[in-house]
Amino acid sequence: MKPYQVKIARSAGNGAPTEVGTFEVVLEERMTVLDALFNIQRTQDDSLSFRCACRVGMCGTCAMYINSVPRLACKTQVSRLNSSTVTIGPLPNLPVIKDLVVSLEPFFEQWKKIKPALHSPTRDSKELACIPATSRYARETPQKRDCITCGICYGACGIKSSSAEYLGPAAINKAFLRLMDPRDTATEERLEVINNERAGVWRCHAQFNCTAACPKNIDLTDTIMRLKRAMLFPSGLKKA
Ligand code: SF4
Ligand code: FES
Repeated sequence: MKPYQVKIARSAGNGAPTEVGTFEVVLEERMTVLDALFNIQRTQDDSLSFRCACRVGMCGTCAMYINSVPRLACKTQVSRLNSSTVTIGPLPNLPVIKDLVVSLEPFFEQWKKIKPALHSPTRDSKELACIPATSRYARETPQKRDCITCGICYGACGIKSSSAEYLGPAAINKAFLRLMDPRDTATEERLEVINNERAGVWRCHAQFNCTAACPKNIDLTDTIMRLKRAMLFPSGLKKA
């Protein structure tokens, strides 16, 4: 079988220059990009660095830039890229540690700003804080709760590429979930963060890159648009 050409951005990190390493990999049936990287590491260059854990699309650690699109390497089959060359780079908008390994610190710094933990007035209560299946939160947010904090939306976001301050789609989606959660009381604090003109929802230009790239199919642009509307018409966030 004809080998695939795999071009990988290689870097020692810390702003060091990036070089492109070119490798050849013989395609096996249903081979993923992550399989191809392991093949290269095992047979051609054991210094190649990349990150992974679950290998089934659950942990989010194998996010990288594959043929100019941020994707999970373990969920991307090489044959479905419809190209005889696979180009792989680190996730954009994040500092490179080495080769394909990035630091997610800036992503989680933004995540922390929206106060992701539940703020419940009854946190010492022994009663279970159940959310009724008929509540608005239960009905309107199921898919938005599937985030695996892979950072792909952060890497795909055009605004993030020019604004260090912007919270980014995943953090805003988390804020939305807490704002809708009937058990949570930190509404004012979170609204203040997402209403900030330099960091908050108003920076989003609805390019839909985050929505298109999210491996969990979370409609992040819808989340951001709903929060914009809620800023203008606060009843849109009524918890029920
Ligand atoms: S919202 Fe989607 S793309 Fe963004 S971090 Fe969560 S799972 Fe990844
Ligand atoms: S290795 Fe866990 S999502 Fe790819």
